[in-house]
Amino acid sequence: MLHLVTDLLELAKLDLRELPLHPCMVDMRELAQASVQTHQAHAERAGITLHTVPAGDPVPARVDPDRLTQVLDNLLDNAISYAGAGAAIHVLVQDGDPVRLAVADTGQGIPTKHLPYLFDAFYRADTARTPSDSHSGLGLRIARGLVEAHGGTLTLNSQEGKGTQAVITLPKTPKA
Ligand SMILES: Nc1ncnc2c1ncn2[C@@H]1O[C@H](COP(=O)(O)OP(=O)(O)O)[C@@H](O)[C@H]1O
Ligand SMILES: [Mg+2]
Repeated sequence: MLHLVTDLLELAKLDLRELPLHPCMVDMRELAQASVQTHQAHAERAGITLHTVPAGDPVPARVDPDRLTQVLDNLLDNAISYAGAGAAIHVLVQDGDPVRLAVADTGQGIPTKHLPYLFDAFYRADTARTPSDSHSGLGLRIARGLVEAHGGTLTLNSQEGKGTQAVITLPKTPKA
């Protein structure tokens, strides 16, 4: 319940553009790997292989690290919750302007008819399949709002039976 109230407050602030960002130069590769690490135990319990972020040069971007971690947490939580046992998750970080991040799973995917609505508040593709304790259907809506507040984009591609890929683009240094 507290989780839902926190999400709703956050959504209201996002809509009002009153969510303060505290940007600084961050190595997105390091940030992504830290998020992967915090989800390892959860993934293991779900029978999912969560791969570490491939090593490489730092990928600097000017972002609010807490907010970007929140976005990755949402995407990883989704992949772990909905991909299904036996799936694998890869998190990729690609330098450039924009910087690109992807959270890709080899899970059951999402039926095409649901795709247009996934970013709507409270929308869940298959409520019967999943427990709704901490899943209120706000996660993607908030994640997209946070990425857009950084001047970036968040999109989801999915193929039923093959898997789902969430892609974030972020300008290296967003306009003030
Ligand atoms: N990686 C994924 N694989 C399969 N389905 C997904 C994935 N990510 C999101 N979904 C679907 O999109 C819906 C919306 O996600 P989200 O906004 O995070 O809400 P919640 O996780 O609270 O249900 C989920 O309920 C689920 O049906
Ligand atoms: Mg979610």
